Amino acid sequence: MYYIGIDLGTSAVKLLLMDGKGTIHNVVSKEYPLYFPHPGWSEQNPEDWYEKSMDGLSELLYGFDKSKVAGISFGGQMHGLVILDEQDRVIRPAILWNDGRTYEENDYLNRTVGKETLSRYTANISFTGFTAPKLLWVKNKEPENFARIKKIMLPKDYLAYRMTGVHCTDVSDASGMLLFDVKNRCWSDEMLEICGVTKDMMAQVFESYECVGTLLPDVAEKLGLSTDVKVAAGAGDNAAAAVGTGTVGDGRCNISLGTSGTIFISMKEFGVDQFNALHAFGHADGHYHLMGCMLSAASCNKWWMDDIVGTKDYAAEQSKIAKLGENHVYFLPYLMGERSPHNDPDARGTFIGLTMDTSRADMTQAVLEGVAFALRDSFEVAKALGVTIGRTKICGGGAKSPLWKTIIANVLGIKVDVIGSEEGPAMGGAMLAAVACGEYASVEEIAEKLVKVVDTVEPDPELTAKYEERYQKFKRIYPACKELFAEISDKE
Ligand code: XUL
Repeated sequence: MYYIGIDLGTSAVKLLLMDGKGTIHNVVSKEYPLYFPHPGWSEQNPEDWYEKSMDGLSELLYGFDKSKVAGISFGGQMHGLVILDEQDRVIRPAILWNDGRTYEENDYLNRTVGKETLSRYTANISFTGFTAPKLLWVKNKEPENFARIKKIMLPKDYLAYRMTGVHCTDVSDASGMLLFDVKNRCWSDEMLEICGVTKDMMAQVFESYECVGTLLPDVAEKLGLSTDVKVAAGAGDNAAAAVGTGTVGDGRCNISLGTSGTIFISMKEFGVDQFNALHAFGHADGHYHLMGCMLSAASCNKWWMDDIVGTKDYAAEQSKIAKLGENHVYFLPYLMGERSPHNDPDARGTFIGLTMDTSRADMTQAVLEGVAFALRDSFEVAKALGVTIGRTKICGGGAKSPLWKTIIANVLGIKVDVIGSEEGPAMGGAMLAAVACGEYASVEEIAEKLVKVVDTVEPDPELTAKYEERYQKFKRIYPACKELFAEISDKE
């Protein structure tokens, strides 16, 4: 049988066709626009997600025996606010995970409601990109839209709704709304009240590997599929990527180098760090995870290459980088503000340490290193919790670069395991569909059987020592700039 994984990303939707043995038969990607209507704001049109996913599905299945498709599931960009009216029409463009407009609402939640209270209700504190502060923003700034809300959804769940007619979500994605009691895997009555919404506005919560329904007749007909095709709830893209890279069970780590950069640690038991610097969310395997999320990771490199240097040949640029561990230039990768661990929407991208002999290659290198150093910030928080991490998996667009993997292995001082498929969330989505259809008994079982490590990047002690020294300097740059960032950020 075939299983389809749909990774609803920020720049594109990626669709993957896998069989029950884990062989990938086809991968298709369809881009859609991302709108920045104001500095620090980030929006998308949910109709684009649906249209491009449907186009992508037709292309994905072209030439394949469609009667063999048994299940579909998702990995989706997290935290985005999609609001629907009485007729299930989208009220306004979706406000995305990397949108920083909610600094007032975020302050209200963290300071007035209080971090301790939020953590008690949800296991997390507020970050500007989370869904609850966005709801409050709509309530405060667009009261006419707020009054029309009948359903509150997350990006991939909107897609599942269009395909099945069911208002559903899953535990991992619901965790990132700050409306969800993560430990007990249910909506938090207290948080719903704080945000002025009611439980009937919230979607039904499933585990990621559970079936939420089957394809609606008109969707099935358009795709040439049967109405028996099962749709599983799926997961937030990081939890789905973790499934796709076999990061399930206890104490495993995955780094995703996509538009965002995340460090994801799977845990059997529920746990929270003392200052809530890492997110404590439900995992797609039925357990929990900790996660640090930086808002711009591979997107920093894309910005530097495409918009500034003006090339699409990333490998050629990286081949000019001569020496690792000795760069005099540092880069702060905060092009969209930063989430973990600084929680600062005013933070900005910065090059520091330039001299007359600085070359383009030094700056390219600084961008790759700056992202690795910023990941290390979250890694340090996890280590302080007593979590021992000796190795990590890696996925996402940035993971295609051998140089970047070497930099990460040495900045973190851990082994980086490369797996057969880099398709993290889409692969994870297809695997969740296979579990929902009964081809495998559990997420752990499918991960163990299908995910294979094909290469390992080992850290080199000498280089790790050089990067250690540089990381100690990197760490001091943000605190030195923090006040200035707040002054120069354009909030209105
Ligand atoms: C995670 C997060 C991002 C998005 C990217 O908390 O905000 O990784 O899910 O799609």
